[in-house]
Amino acid sequence: MKVAVFNAKSYDKKFLDEANKEFGHHLVYLEPHLNKETMKLAYDFPCVCVFVNDQLNKTTMTALSKHGTKLIALRCAGFNNVDLNVAAELNIPVVRVPVYSPHGVAEHAVALILSLNRKICRASYRVREGNFSLEGLLGFELHGQTVGIIGTGKIGCVLAQIMKGFKTKVIAYDPYPNDHCKEMGVEYVSLAELFERSDIISLHVPLTPENYHLINDESIKQMKKGVMLINTSRGGLIDTRAVIKGLKSRKIGFLGLDVYEEEETFFFEDYSDQLINDDVFARLLTFSNVLITGHQAFFTHEALRKIAETTLRNITAFEEGRIILENCVSLDIVRKVESKVG
Ligand code: NAI
Repeated sequence: MKVAVFNAKSYDKKFLDEANKEFGHHLVYLEPHLNKETMKLAYDFPCVCVFVNDQLNKTTMTALSKHGTKLIALRCAGFNNVDLNVAAELNIPVVRVPVYSPHGVAEHAVALILSLNRKICRASYRVREGNFSLEGLLGFELHGQTVGIIGTGKIGCVLAQIMKGFKTKVIAYDPYPNDHCKEMGVEYVSLAELFERSDIISLHVPLTPENYHLINDESIKQMKKGVMLINTSRGGLIDTRAVIKGLKSRKIGFLGLDVYEEEETFFFEDYSDQLINDDVFARLLTFSNVLITGHQAFFTHEALRKIAETTLRNITAFEEGRIILENCVSLDIVRKVESKVG
């Protein structure tokens, strides 16, 4: 099938080309993000393949549908950048890669936790400059801390397992408690109780309209003073301005982010020679207890291989006319979770 691959980086091409030896699709790599300015590049392509920050809203999808798009193939798990109602109206299935690196993302969350907790970035800069002073580098042990995991799906469950290894107390909130987590001894509590009891809070939920700004002034008020907040899921889960207030008041002691609510304007690109015109992001970077990575939690060899293979397999399944597409993002599933949470 002819596929327009948006936002294609060298690493996407490498892994897709390798996997495509088995599938034989006609892949056309396009550098730009998909948006209303670039959508014309995909006209007459039956399949459009996109990543997390490509915008599949009413304007782009309606235009694509008019010009022959029959399938949207996401190279990611999250689908908050797709208007699923419009996709359903236009009868365009949206397929995704539901599992590719639960271990990679959970391990990255742990990397953020340990780097913040033991001030690894500051320590490393100091040593490079010949400064071996320990002033300001005092950390704390994870052993005995309470870790609150919001969302115990694939990634949250792996994180629970890892944090159990550190002998932390793991508590969780999820409208659909996970049996494996329960067997491990994870204690399910209400969201309010999780905020109250956790020393470290890590977010592992998809971004939906219902949980947009799940972390806001009100939820921060309920947290312990000095709490560590980790977000490797989606930027929109956190109200960044509220978190900055929390950091200034020292209510939030540490913040580790792999995602940011306005990330689509600059993440995944090299802006080192330019100004970043985002004052909120710039303010975040001034705190020494904030650590930000640029949406790289998924970025492992294992994950890129899996993403390429699953994406191409999804496209083949559609091309072969399978009625039930295994990795289709079904509105029914999304609504089920939303109604339970709401
Ligand atoms: P999953 O679908 O396996 O699990 C999500 C869990 O969240 C489910 O158990 C669901 O019941 C629960 N949930 C939904 N709404 C909730 C709410 N409001 N409160 C509490 N729980 C809620 O998803 P998975 O694979 O664990 O991924 C989680 C998120 O991680 C993805 O949606 C995606 O946004 C993000 N992600 C980030 C990556 C990165 O590179 N930074 C890579 C891959 C995923």
